[in-house]
Amino acid sequence: MRALTITRYGDPDVLEVRERATPSPQSGEVLIRVARAGLNFSDIAARQGLYPDAPKPPMVMGYEVSGTVEQLGLGTIRFKAGDRVSAMCKFNGQATHVVVPEAQLTALPPQMSFDEAAALPVNYLTAFHILFHVGQLRPGDKVLVHMAAGGVGQSAIQLCRTVEGVDIFGTASAQKHDALRAAGVQHPIDYHSKDYAQEVLRLTGGKGVQWVLDPLGGADWNKGYNLLAPSGRLAAYGWANMISGTHRNVFHIAKEFLGLKRYSPMKLMGDNRCVFGVNMGNMWGEAELIGRHLDALMKLYTQGKIRPVIDSVFPLEKGADAHRHVQERRNVGKVLFNCE
Ligand SMILES: NC(=O)c1ccc[n+]([C@@H]2O[C@H](COP(=O)([O-])OP(=O)(O)OC[C@H]3O[C@@H](n4cnc5c(N)ncnc54)[C@H](OP(=O)(O)O)[C@@H]3O)[C@@H](O)[C@H]2O)c1
Repeated sequence: MRALTITRYGDPDVLEVRERATPSPQSGEVLIRVARAGLNFSDIAARQGLYPDAPKPPMVMGYEVSGTVEQLGLGTIRFKAGDRVSAMCKFNGQATHVVVPEAQLTALPPQMSFDEAAALPVNYLTAFHILFHVGQLRPGDKVLVHMAAGGVGQSAIQLCRTVEGVDIFGTASAQKHDALRAAGVQHPIDYHSKDYAQEVLRLTGGKGVQWVLDPLGGADWNKGYNLLAPSGRLAAYGWANMISGTHRNVFHIAKEFLGLKRYSPMKLMGDNRCVFGVNMGNMWGEAELIGRHLDALMKLYTQGKIRPVIDSVFPLEKGADAHRHVQERRNVGKVLFNCE
């Protein structure tokens, strides 16, 4: 089998497709022949050595795949060889084959393409978990979505639109604003040319928003907190601001940590605000909860209420190009690998 390997920490050229032995499924596991694997922003951070959850190099990233069942381990009962599935994996997905516990597989509806199936798990589960499990999005809420043109951002926007009258503010580079408007963002904000916090306050008459979805981290969490209306929620689910170039920059990292705010329960109580964190990679083992989320998402998909936005599909051999594409902020929606 072939696997896109981060051979050492560094710029995108450290990525190489390497041959490795195809694993055999153990009891309760399934071997999948991978059709598509998702690229996630965490892969960029992992390549630079900035993602503590990732294994050490040489490593293969990949939190989600679509493909067909190739081999079944003992005791598996839900699938048979040849079934079309998607799966959540904790790494090793960006490869031609991956072994996954059966509980982490989902059968695909016939109309769902392998592209859509690999684009759905991480992005939609993250947005869904934030908006409908930890929090409860309500009609008329105002929501600020950062990295709005990215994979999670696009998913969050679609999920916001399933609730009546939600007013969406989305930050993205200016050239993506038409795509944001088409997706239903009423207030696209170019964070390169404007202070988005001032812009949100201007647009809300100083009242702020009920939700800030912030995977930027550091100083932006402070800015987001100050934009919350009473009973507003700040969801912290990433620290993209750590990435400042193609390599890790220790001065930049130190600056990010120094800018971090500490939230005391006393202050949260006094301010009537809520701050919470989400890391879906650490939730894959919560099969029952994730299964319920996926059922709800599949229902929304079959009702035509959500539809993964695919930016591009790169062959595994073009791993470096795929990383550069995201890092140079060119994507609108999900970037995938074709692993066939
Ligand atoms: N906690 C979790 O469970 C979880 C799960 C999934 C993702 N996340 C986090 O959510 C965030 C979005 O992930 P994603 O996969 O949706 O992202 P993505 O699709 O890869 O988004 C990339 C886009 O982000 C914007 N961006 C903002 N800051 C950037 C930076 N420093 N370097 C490069 N691009 C930057 C760029 O668009 P613009 O220039 O248009 O803004 C870029 O095109 C990431 O921080 C990720 O780690 C967390």
